[in-house]
Amino acid sequence: MCGIVGFIGQKDVKNVLLTGLETLEYRGYDSAGVAIYTNNEVIVYKDKGRISHLRQVIGEDASTMGIGHTRWATHGVPNQVNSHPHTSQDGRFTLVHNGVIENDDALRCKYFAELKFKSETDTELVVELLSYYVNKYTQVDVAIRHMMNRLKGSFALAILDRDNPDVFYVVKNKSPLLIGIGDGFNMVGSDAMAMLRETNKFFELNDKEYAIISRDKVEIFEITGAIIKRDYFESSIDPNDIEKGTYKHFMLKEIDEQPFVIRRILEEYQLNSHLYIDENILSLVRSADRIFIIAAGTSFHAGLIGKQLFEKLTNIPVEVYISSEFVYNTPILSISPLFIFISQSGETADSRAALVKIKSLGYKALTITNVKGSTLSREADYTLLLHAGPEIAVASTKAYTAQIAVLSILAYLTNPNNTFDLQHELSIVSSVLETLCDQKEVVEECARELLPTTRNCFYIGRHMDYFVALEAALKLKEISYIQTEGFAAGELKHGTIALIEKNTPVIAIISQENINLNTRSNVKEVKARGANTLVISLKSVSADGDQIVIDDVHPLLTPLVTIVPIQLMAYYAALHRNLDIDKPRNLAKSVTVE
Ligand code: AGP
Repeated sequence: MCGIVGFIGQKDVKNVLLTGLETLEYRGYDSAGVAIYTNNEVIVYKDKGRISHLRQVIGEDASTMGIGHTRWATHGVPNQVNSHPHTSQDGRFTLVHNGVIENDDALRCKYFAELKFKSETDTELVVELLSYYVNKYTQVDVAIRHMMNRLKGSFALAILDRDNPDVFYVVKNKSPLLIGIGDGFNMVGSDAMAMLRETNKFFELNDKEYAIISRDKVEIFEITGAIIKRDYFESSIDPNDIEKGTYKHFMLKEIDEQPFVIRRILEEYQLNSHLYIDENILSLVRSADRIFIIAAGTSFHAGLIGKQLFEKLTNIPVEVYISSEFVYNTPILSISPLFIFISQSGETADSRAALVKIKSLGYKALTITNVKGSTLSREADYTLLLHAGPEIAVASTKAYTAQIAVLSILAYLTNPNNTFDLQHELSIVSSVLETLCDQKEVVEECARELLPTTRNCFYIGRHMDYFVALEAALKLKEISYIQTEGFAAGELKHGTIALIEKNTPVIAIISQENINLNTRSNVKEVKARGANTLVISLKSVSADGDQIVIDDVHPLLTPLVTIVPIQLMAYYAALHRNLDIDKPRNLAKSVTVE
């Protein structure tokens, strides 16, 4: 994971770097550092902790060029020495790295058996390797090409050369990196958001490419040294989308955005007032004898709902796989399968590994993602965008609802015989979401009563509600650190009910007529064993005493609304415990390591 930035030009370099890094903290936040070029010297400030801490320790030096890093530790604990940037022992090169070098040990043995490395990171190997090749071939760009040829794994690098005040270098393989272009300056970042305050014009950098960046020029090269001509693109991300505004946390802002996200999806997937998706994509889905949905975390949970939507609306059988499992335990595939990858970030390494695998087998893939131009989007045959706007909080909320909404439109349009009006049904969802977002106090009160000091919690449900229970458990555990499990309500009595004791919180989700009475019986069973129960139900299946009752929506779309009080419950449980809601411990937003 990790985020990197680099800047050259006449501006307050340190501030540009630190502000960019703050935007990238979603990628990791256990240590941070910058290197700035000043008076023919490269000065490094780095430490364990967040960017806010780095701001306090950084010096006053003026500069026209610098690089920065925010870290999610993979090699070595978070501490000052392991923090980036890293400098070669001859003092000439200083670099920041996002990614993992897979042949770190082999290269150390081969080239640096005698060298005593200072840190435990794989990055230090990279900077020494660069220095080694510069000593051998003199020219930095030649050395970079040799280094790129040697390294295996993922690496986005930004490199300062103490002996050259006019340029810095960037290298990309598998980890994301964009070049931002401006008037009198140029910069780089792990994503566009890190640069949006300065520019909205970007060059894409592809795998196995490097670039030389000066104040008024950007030159992009292939690994062979051949120069590449590339057009820039303009980002349509609104800079306000990456600000918290009046909200205390991005998570709450993003929960509140969900009604608008559904409306935006309805606008984006519309032609002549009717729902619309490119005919090539629809034919691809129609020609599949089986759909394999592959995703991780929350996106996997959206995939479980996607299976219900496809099977009910198209009759095409669907299997849903956790990306990291699919790669190493690939199931028997059908004759003409279609692979759908779901990923908010479009950068998840586990999902990408699965995509690489299925592409190597010659199959077609469709990616559903929030990030245009992301790796999973570029490497699939087709992409459907979520149009949810940037999701900054580590806990995914609006991306989940957007994923389900887009999946519902795709499944619906795949089968021309579907007769109900999905457009209308999704607009009802949007209104219900708005009502739910206006009733936060009810959920806050429930969280205060049920979850103030508990160490564990259970979510239960059947059918659609079971899949929502899985997402509910992930949401609560990842930000409140309450050990939470999502269970099929009928399965509790086969073992897990043994864990229920006095005051164990059990939250039931009831949205479907056919499971209503059964789930209610399960609620009674746990209540009889001392559980503190709470029921979230839809109006048509509600009963006296249900604490949270939601207006009705189409039975296939209930996860879009039942999830909202659950997201809020997680938010308030974490808030009441005074936790860092947007940046929970040990996690990062974009998981770019396998
Ligand atoms: C959920 O809140 C998490 N942030 C996480 O499970 C996430 O959904 C997972 O890492 C997959 O990310 P992606 O959608 O960007 O591929």
